Amino acid sequence: MSDLYAVFGNPIAHSKSPAIHAAFAAATGQDLIYEARLAPLDDFAGAVAEFIRLGGKGANVTVPFKEEACRLASRLSERAARAGAVNTLSFAGGEIVGDNTDGAGLVGDITRNLGVSLAGKRTLLLGAGGAARGVIAPILAEEPACLDIANRTASKAAELAAVFGDLAGLRAGCFADFAGLSYDVVINATSASLSGASLPLPAGLFASDSLAYDMMYGKGETPFLRLAREQGAARCADGLGMLVEQAAEAFFVWRGVRPATGAVLAGLRAQLAV
Ligand code: ATR
Repeated sequence: MSDLYAVFGNPIAHSKSPAIHAAFAAATGQDLIYEARLAPLDDFAGAVAEFIRLGGKGANVTVPFKEEACRLASRLSERAARAGAVNTLSFAGGEIVGDNTDGAGLVGDITRNLGVSLAGKRTLLLGAGGAARGVIAPILAEEPACLDIANRTASKAAELAAVFGDLAGLRAGCFADFAGLSYDVVINATSASLSGASLPLPAGLFASDSLAYDMMYGKGETPFLRLAREQGAARCADGLGMLVEQAAEAFFVWRGVRPATGAVLAGLRAQLAV
């Protein structure tokens, strides 16, 4: 019988994860089924328990359950504990092990797919919510020259900088506090694009050869990437590659096999274009 996996979210119908994992399984010869499961907003734990009863071996977790999954896990990887959020669960021996592959997905997309090293780079993270928190330690592990955090609400940026203060000194503030500074890599981890909102970024943030990276993706250019292009960013990338890379990392956590990602990413990119 095939091993059973799923992604839990609410909503979940448009998730690309089942197609991504089916492609990985076919390419690596792994015998598994991966389905999308809608969890009730008030009973994520019940949905996971039912899935374990059905024989589920592991699950991805997406909006809005990543923090709840972190609390549900009986054991956490170090990167999940740091992130305070879980996007990958493994079920074995009565344990629920929580992991977080989002940061590895972001770093893998930037360094391998885009070919941009973060080492020695002046790096700015926009946003201070769950998405930002999940990627800070993996970015710091690449040893950038700095990692600063700008957020609409300055106090939340300062809180996040304090949480990671043992790893590095992170400058934190509201967007206007970064006027006069410039960065090699600027990563948008806010959810502003979801509402089509543009960020009030001070001019001059993007160094002449900089990369602007939006963790969001969609048909066409995101509002952040439009702004970045207009403000002089040399390269712009959306988060579709991060989506595929976090999935590949989860696949590796479960199966011990690292799938190639190029063809899957190209296929998704082509679908978005039509
Ligand atoms: P997520 O898990 O996606 O990070 P979140 O924890 O709700 O979601 O955080 C959302 C982030 O996007 C926050 O940094 C938020 O800024 P505030 O801390 O000031 O709320 C940011 N954000 C959302 N909408 C925004 C907008 N229109 N302009 C600027 N920042 C926005």
